[in-house]
Amino acid sequence: MCGIVGYVGRERAQTVMAGEETNGAHGALDVVMEGLRRLEYRGYDSAGVAVLTGDGVESRKKAGKLANLISELETDPLPRSLTGIGHTRWATHGGPTDQNAHPHLADGGRLALIHNGIIENFAELKAELLEQGVVLISDTDTEVAAALLGSIYRTLSEAGTPNALPLAMQQACQRLEGAFTLLAIHQDSPDLVVAARRNSPLVVGLGDGENFLGSDVSGFIDFTRRAVELGQDQIVTITPEDVTITDFHGAPAEGREFHVDWDAAAAEKGGYPSFMEKEINDQPDAVGQTLLGRTDLKGNLILDELRIDESILRSVDKIVVLACGTSAYAGQVAKYAIEHWCRIPTEVELSHEFRYRDPIVNEKTLVVAISQSGETMDTLMAVRYAREQGAKVVAICNTNGSTIPRESDAVLYTHAGPEIAVASTKAFLAQITAAYLLGLYLAQLRGNKYRDEIAEVLSDLHEMPEKIQHILDNADHVKKLARDMSDAKSVLFLGRHVGFPVAMEGALKLKELAYIHAEGFAAGELKHGPIALIEDGQPVVVVLPSPRGRDSLHSKVVSNIQEIRARGAITIVIAEEGDESVADFSEHVFHVPQTPTLLAPLLTTVPLQIFACELATAKGYDVDQPRNLAKSVTVE
Ligand code: F6R
Repeated sequence: MCGIVGYVGRERAQTVMAGEETNGAHGALDVVMEGLRRLEYRGYDSAGVAVLTGDGVESRKKAGKLANLISELETDPLPRSLTGIGHTRWATHGGPTDQNAHPHLADGGRLALIHNGIIENFAELKAELLEQGVVLISDTDTEVAAALLGSIYRTLSEAGTPNALPLAMQQACQRLEGAFTLLAIHQDSPDLVVAARRNSPLVVGLGDGENFLGSDVSGFIDFTRRAVELGQDQIVTITPEDVTITDFHGAPAEGREFHVDWDAAAAEKGGYPSFMEKEINDQPDAVGQTLLGRTDLKGNLILDELRIDESILRSVDKIVVLACGTSAYAGQVAKYAIEHWCRIPTEVELSHEFRYRDPIVNEKTLVVAISQSGETMDTLMAVRYAREQGAKVVAICNTNGSTIPRESDAVLYTHAGPEIAVASTKAFLAQITAAYLLGLYLAQLRGNKYRDEIAEVLSDLHEMPEKIQHILDNADHVKKLARDMSDAKSVLFLGRHVGFPVAMEGALKLKELAYIHAEGFAAGELKHGPIALIEDGQPVVVVLPSPRGRDSLHSKVVSNIQEIRARGAITIVIAEEGDESVADFSEHVFHVPQTPTLLAPLLTTVPLQIFACELATAKGYDVDQPRNLAKSVTVE
């Protein structure tokens, strides 16, 4: 999500890259545009740049792809400059328009700011700034941050404070909540870029007589391989000669210098060999970002985007979740949670089946359409049909500005960032997270749960990014098993309750990535047919529920494991940490951190994704672009 580049150089900078030596700094615009091009893979829907010239700050920005910004720059060129910032925006607050694109200007046009992330307390700050008479022209939280920085800067500068821009950035950051990377330039400081980061990426690139900033090293990889990793809550000021790092209170801090040995293509994948591996590893962030900014200061859920009249949401008597593929499995997880928390009957239907069976939907039905791309034709047509019948539609979507949210009554965006690999991973976890938020919101609104009960689930949810990271950090055993099993002809997956959709998702990932026959079953269904498939050596992956949840759930699945083992199956069990109940009669057990049963899919899915990805890689397949598949299925 969002690409950020910053540059400052002096006229006589020497840069040696790929054998090419230049006398004189790169122009800021060239560096920034090249960086933005390299960061395109992060996904974006508008782009902009600002440079410092002898006359002050000049900026150009355009909705759409970089090509639009390039033609704008051809029509209305910027003068040569040695200080500049650039941004590709993935819309969150406010649609992808020219106006909402970054940079945003403040302090009477003398300051330009770009931002990645979400300022959680922007509404409160906005009210404060409006009261002071500040005029805001966009719908973004970024403009609020720019105005805040501008107003602090003005006060410091008028008081004659030296070094006012870094100081103003420190003071602004002390007021901001949420996740952000901010970069600012000011006409009073012509050879300086100030940046800040909290829970959002930023790295420094070191040159000779020039320095760089980027969301990741691909933002400057064409110019330098020397980089500095920053810590949490740090401010960095770059000039052509210096890089100064402090914390948000001005105390000196240090970054870790490293050498970038990736090539440019690898840099876009964050050093991972594939986008899929990167996206699997992005999941703590995808879940964390989706949770961000959804509660007010009192801990109440505030789903701002959910603009359906509360009285309508209170009177809903049925929920229908519509989606396809992986998104439909997220929908199945949602059903368990929503029915449990809200006591509203919830059906999950594949979008393409829904439309053709004369479904019963009316004004009292709430349709939840889940789509990563927001462009899946089957789901779009189902949404149109449901709205024609009078139902209200909430989209859960990862792609701002796409068609399904546009045609729905409300949208809850997942903030997983762009998913490039064709098969879905991080979007799945983000969809489940958003569905939990929707369920909790409805429970809050309809009074099904007390505030402290909701707060407890939210607090469990906020622990998820760390727990997912723990699984990612301890995945060697899963990876080794996947490599050892690369000759498997068929793998079965079993789960019960929320483990059932997880089993189906595990099977789908293996089919898609490794082209191995795989099926997911409800464990209870085994004896009704699928057990006939079990023969000597048949691998079966079992998602075992927590023994701390409903005990019948756990013990029933343990019995299922014994039944298939007795018939020769090789069992691979995903169990909760501390659960040793199957240790003696399973070939492989992978543990995931303890968590309440309903939230477990955010954890139990992860080893299954890693398993499929590693097995497919061992077979030499392209995990990013499996055969016959497309990322957006825009035909029925
Ligand atoms: C599987 C996968 C697909 C999508 C499905 C729906 O890995 O990615 O099954 O989940 O095509 O796509 P969206 O969510 O874009 O509507």
